[in-house]
Amino acid sequence: MMNSVLMALHALGAVAWVGGMLFAYMVLRPSVDVMEPPHKLTLLAAVFRRFFIWVWHAVVVLPVTGYVVMFSLYNGFAGSGVHIHLMQGLGWVMIALFVYMVFGPYPPFRRAVAAADWPEAARHLPRIRRIIGINLILGLITVVAGSAGRFL
Ligand code: HEM
Repeated sequence: MMNSVLMALHALGAVAWVGGMLFAYMVLRPSVDVMEPPHKLTLLAAVFRRFFIWVWHAVVVLPVTGYVVMFSLYNGFAGSGVHIHLMQGLGWVMIALFVYMVFGPYPPFRRAVAAADWPEAARHLPRIRRIIGINLILGLITVVAGSAGRFL
């Protein structure tokens, strides 16, 4: 029973994070590129602020639930399959990239938008986008490893 609750939270964490990145990168990004910089950058700052709160929850929920299941169901690292090692490895790379982005290019972007300094805000945006794009690819691979890996 406990493991099913934990796996449900784990899957929901993955859906919130990877699904949010898929929407942000594949749908929102090309759609807002037609807007004028002040509107586009203000909208993106509001989107990031709300989305990153969800990601903070996911980066706590995913490892905690993942490791509890790993130790209670599979006897820890030694008893876990290659797909679980791949998932946790990629998971930590994703978490590191997210933390780097939140403390790296994101604060100057947010400050520039608050100051209506549009050229400065636009200067920081490509790095944020690039990191979300990389994390999206890693996240999709991780979801495939986590869900389909056990059948290999
Ligand atoms: C960071 C450390 C992580 C650990 C220790 C971990 C651990 C696990 C374990 C033990 C399972 C069950 C696998 C099985 O029964 O074969 C699992 C499933 C899964 N994991 Fe992770 N995981 C981690 C990170 C992630 C991340 C970052 C994502 C996606 C962004 C993710 C997505 C999934 C998915 C989609 C499943 C399948 C759920 C299902 O089929 O119900 N995991 N994980």
